Amino acid sequence: MGKTLQAQHFNYFIRQAPMTVQIKTAEEIEKMRTAGRLAAEVLEMIAPFVQPGITTDALNQRCHDYIVNEQQAIPAPLNYHGFPKSICTSVNHVVCHGIPNNKPLKDGDIVNIDITVIKDDYHGDTSQMFSVGTVSEKAKRIIRISQECLHKGIELVKPGTRLGDIGFAIQHHAEVNKCTIVREYCGHGIGRGFHEQPQVLHYGKRGSGMPLEAGMTFTIEPMVNLGKRHVKLLDDGWTVITKDRRLTAQWEHTILVTDDGFEVLTRRSDEHF
Ligand code: MF3
Ligand code: CO
Ligand code: CO
Repeated sequence: MGKTLQAQHFNYFIRQAPMTVQIKTAEEIEKMRTAGRLAAEVLEMIAPFVQPGITTDALNQRCHDYIVNEQQAIPAPLNYHGFPKSICTSVNHVVCHGIPNNKPLKDGDIVNIDITVIKDDYHGDTSQMFSVGTVSEKAKRIIRISQECLHKGIELVKPGTRLGDIGFAIQHHAEVNKCTIVREYCGHGIGRGFHEQPQVLHYGKRGSGMPLEAGMTFTIEPMVNLGKRHVKLLDDGWTVITKDRRLTAQWEHTILVTDDGFEVLTRRSDEHF
């Protein structure tokens, strides 16, 4: 996710002219469909391995090998602005950009796995939450509400909807459920670039922001906290945690704006959009 307010990830966006949102051609959209499908298939491949005792390094290695060897694709995070691994794994109070490590997952953990692949120069970006063994009711709740937030955002996507309408719907659903939205990171345009314009905020005001147009591709990826919205960046320069160390959850899809609505380019086979 691109960073909105603080500096360190703002450089995701500096390579482009400001405020230019690309409309993808039919050929580009076909490549985005392929990249999106591959990213979704990595999540489907890794799902059965997310069990107590496995390390996030082992999950990273399996995903890396699958992307490189089976998909003949590129894991976009690896070396991206210096990120050291091929996937992000964010456990419990880690909001996003968790770095895979040698610590085993334990019963009761929740983990977000965030996959971005590059195929034929185009990116597909998607993440989902996994429950490790048996998790608490609070964990189930934050996982459910964050996924509902993503779905509320996706359902609004069509030409003419404004980015602020999407942000509002996501923020509203979190807040009526006494949860909070992380503001420092956002969804993003995606295509040849990992993080393109526009920035897709997960909070906002109805009727504000840019109107969507057919052919835009972007992610929606709300980070929703059980406690306060504030986050802290660890000294490794990547790992983002909740300041109060309460649970947080995130789901992400890559979306295409179609003539009459949306297409979820990273849809998994168990999802029905
Ligand atoms: N996949 C993340 C996103 O949704 C970005 C990860 S950047 C990395 O935008 F360098 F941490 F991999
Ligand atoms: Co993203
Ligand atoms: Co992602």
